[in-house]
Amino acid sequence: MKVLAINSSARKGGQSKTEWMLEYLVEGMAGAGAEVDVVNLRDKKIKYCTGCYTCWTKTPGKCIFQDDMTKELLPLLIQADLVVYATPLYHHTINAHMKTFIERTLPCAQPFFELKEDGKTSHPMRFEMGKAVVLSVAGFPEYSAFDQMSAYVRFLFGERLVSELYRPAAESLMQPGMEQRRIVIESALNAAGRELVEKGAVAEETMADIHLPVANNVEQFHEIGNMFWRTCIAEGVTPKQFGERKLIPRPDSLKGFMLLTRMAFNPKGAGDMVATLQYKFNGAVEGGCYLSITKGTIIAQEGFCENPDLTIDTPFDTWMDIMTGKADGGEMFAAEKYAVNGDLELLMKMGELFAR
Ligand SMILES: Cc1cc2nc3c(=O)[nH]c(=O)nc-3n(C[C@H](O)[C@H](O)[C@H](O)COP(=O)(O)O)c2cc1C
Repeated sequence: MKVLAINSSARKGGQSKTEWMLEYLVEGMAGAGAEVDVVNLRDKKIKYCTGCYTCWTKTPGKCIFQDDMTKELLPLLIQADLVVYATPLYHHTINAHMKTFIERTLPCAQPFFELKEDGKTSHPMRFEMGKAVVLSVAGFPEYSAFDQMSAYVRFLFGERLVSELYRPAAESLMQPGMEQRRIVIESALNAAGRELVEKGAVAEETMADIHLPVANNVEQFHEIGNMFWRTCIAEGVTPKQFGERKLIPRPDSLKGFMLLTRMAFNPKGAGDMVATLQYKFNGAVEGGCYLSITKGTIIAQEGFCENPDLTIDTPFDTWMDIMTGKADGGEMFAAEKYAVNGDLELLMKMGELFAR
């Protein structure tokens, strides 16, 4: 089976979630014996369709332009048994690179009108076109973020469309604490690739894994996302630079602190530890919260508990500086910027308990 995978993401090098998804899908397809060509549209010179209709009249099936579309991509498209259209979700639909590519496939259609079985008008194709798979990633957490794209590709590809692989909250999957979910999704994409080649469809269980939820609720998702963007703005960095500098979203509320702490918790580092850790904050944020760690699980609660194993009494900003790597915990302790009471060994283990 010949597969053409068209990637329209403008980003690359680990930043692109489209590329991330596509790589695993394609790996699965190749593993099942498919011959796969991956084309990155960002590297191609593709002119806009000018609507001259020369490809429908004077030179049927042939475009007036000589560019990467006519020289390389149209021949690959016509030969492919299966075409993967991999696009980021931009303004609720496919992005401009992908739209430009799709518009330039006009020579593959004939000018005539005909009625499809569903009673809608369409153009017959000039060539026998391969089946289509659409893959997309979105920043928003809801699956419904893909509704408009889905309606469009269903109409566009009709019966040729064999699968839609949509991943909401794709950006958040790259955050610390998401490794396990990423592994599940990556192996599901591998399986989806194999299933598409071997059976022509993706199994329900595989699809469920691709759609694995990332947050317990939408409010939490917003909280962490907003924390991330506020940190980018405060630090004057783009998301790419945020990643390169290994920055950490900076909480500015008790709620945000508890959420991030839960997310960064490392069950392996905790082992069979049973301990309660109390924070008493003053300064920019006043109040307390405590973490109950029990054999690889963590519960964060607002307020104060009785008999904690360790109490950290600190200005909120000082602890956020330590947590986000702006200040060294040991140095700040020596300089008496915060105080502790209780099991100091627990303080020493913070690095193992929470992933940076
Ligand atoms: C111009 C632009 C428009 C976007 N529009 C949406 C959108 O409508 N819905 C959404 O959930 N995410 C939207 N996003 C977020 C992207 O879908 C998300 O960042 C995705 O990971 C981009 O794909 P990439 O990682 O392959 O570049 C948009 C991003 C950009 C840059």
